[in-house]
Amino acid sequence: MNKGMENEAKKNLTQALYLKAKEIIPGGTQLLSKRPEMMAPGQWPAYFSRAAGCEVWDLDDRHYYDMSTNGIGACLLGFADPDVNVAVKKRIDLGSMCTLNPPEEVELAERLCSIHPWAEQARFARSGGETGAVAVRIARATTDRSAIAICGYHGWHDWYLAANLGESDALRGHLLPGLEPVGVPSELRNTAFPFKYNDKQAFQDIIDKAGNRLAAVIMEPCRGTDPEPGFLEFIRDKAHACGALLIFDEITIGWRLNYGGAHLRLGVNPDIAIFAKALGNGYPIGAVIGTKAAMEGAQKSFISSTYWTESIGPVAALATLKKMAETRVHEHAGKIGSLVVSSWKARAAEHGVKILAGDGYPCLAHFKFNYENSEELRTLYTQLMLERGFLGGASVYVTLAHNLEIVRQYDVAIDEVFARIAQAIRQDNVRELLRGPVAHTGFRRLI
Ligand SMILES: Cc1ncc(COP(=O)(O)O)c(C=O)c1O
Repeated sequence: MNKGMENEAKKNLTQALYLKAKEIIPGGTQLLSKRPEMMAPGQWPAYFSRAAGCEVWDLDDRHYYDMSTNGIGACLLGFADPDVNVAVKKRIDLGSMCTLNPPEEVELAERLCSIHPWAEQARFARSGGETGAVAVRIARATTDRSAIAICGYHGWHDWYLAANLGESDALRGHLLPGLEPVGVPSELRNTAFPFKYNDKQAFQDIIDKAGNRLAAVIMEPCRGTDPEPGFLEFIRDKAHACGALLIFDEITIGWRLNYGGAHLRLGVNPDIAIFAKALGNGYPIGAVIGTKAAMEGAQKSFISSTYWTESIGPVAALATLKKMAETRVHEHAGKIGSLVVSSWKARAAEHGVKILAGDGYPCLAHFKFNYENSEELRTLYTQLMLERGFLGGASVYVTLAHNLEIVRQYDVAIDEVFARIAQAIRQDNVRELLRGPVAHTGFRRLI
């Protein structure tokens, strides 16, 4: 950030706090995706004072509609859902932490197993990455093997980043570009093997190399689009044939395409599935569900943590499950997401802006400017949307709180912003219009 921007930022409570944070909190925030630098450096509000539905107020009381990831996918019912909050507040008043255990976790285990009839047992954690780490530990304990085949993103833990220890940058295309496995013991080399979605041959190569020591395959059953016919079945059958378990990571896709894990819709059951994010609608809760045979390792291995025994997580999850079922939120997310995609496509076509959109599930809608300077254009887009009162991102994870009126207002803003962007492309002055640096992509050290 240049001196001028820095002086301007100091007059603005939201920006000033972030400048301070960067001095005292390495990396500025606790989650890469929540760094303002990922959206529009020096412009994106780092902090909120209040959030409700899909509305957000920053520290300077500026109001925004969230047309980005709505809590990085955590709040499918919208922020501060009133029904979930009633349940949580009741539990807080009764005491949410104690020497004894929360009875709600038993009900939650039953609920999750009844929604996923193949599953017989559940364990709970609180965040997504640690839930994945628990699942991997269980699989390793159950099979008494070490190697893990990986497809997609599963968090920050050593077992996962170990895939990037290879001689080559093995995870490129899966993980955040440029993310180094610094701090991950090099002794973990050759314990994690990545493969690409729909790439049967790449998975077969892993089986050929490490099949006899493969503990598990972990992958999202789908993320953007349905798998090629037979792909998931191929992975399941090959994994089972060499004695490995199949783990589906439903942390982001779960509950959005259908009620429960997306695998229910795709008709392939894993041995273990993991959930987090939307399960608690903003309150921390993660779940590992599995068959009794697959979960056997959880009895033997030491997997234990104090705050996995607090009550708010399970209570929030039960209230969230109830409301997601009653409202059929996945249908709403699909419908509203389709309208968002239509708005991008129609306005881009009208103004002659080249974008790529509509190639994935509408519940996780996204678009990309199809130009060499696409990141400059994305930054300008976010800047112009902020000026119009929208947290505008290239990914929009709609919630139950997004309604037709908000989409109508959004469409008006998209019309204006795409018109302005078209003009900037014609005049070749995108960079000059930016009020700050270009947004970062992937991992980058903050300076
Ligand atoms: C598929 C998937 N797995 C795991 C994670 C990690 O979850 P968390 O950020 O809660 O640790 C994410 C987060 O984006 C995810 O999308």
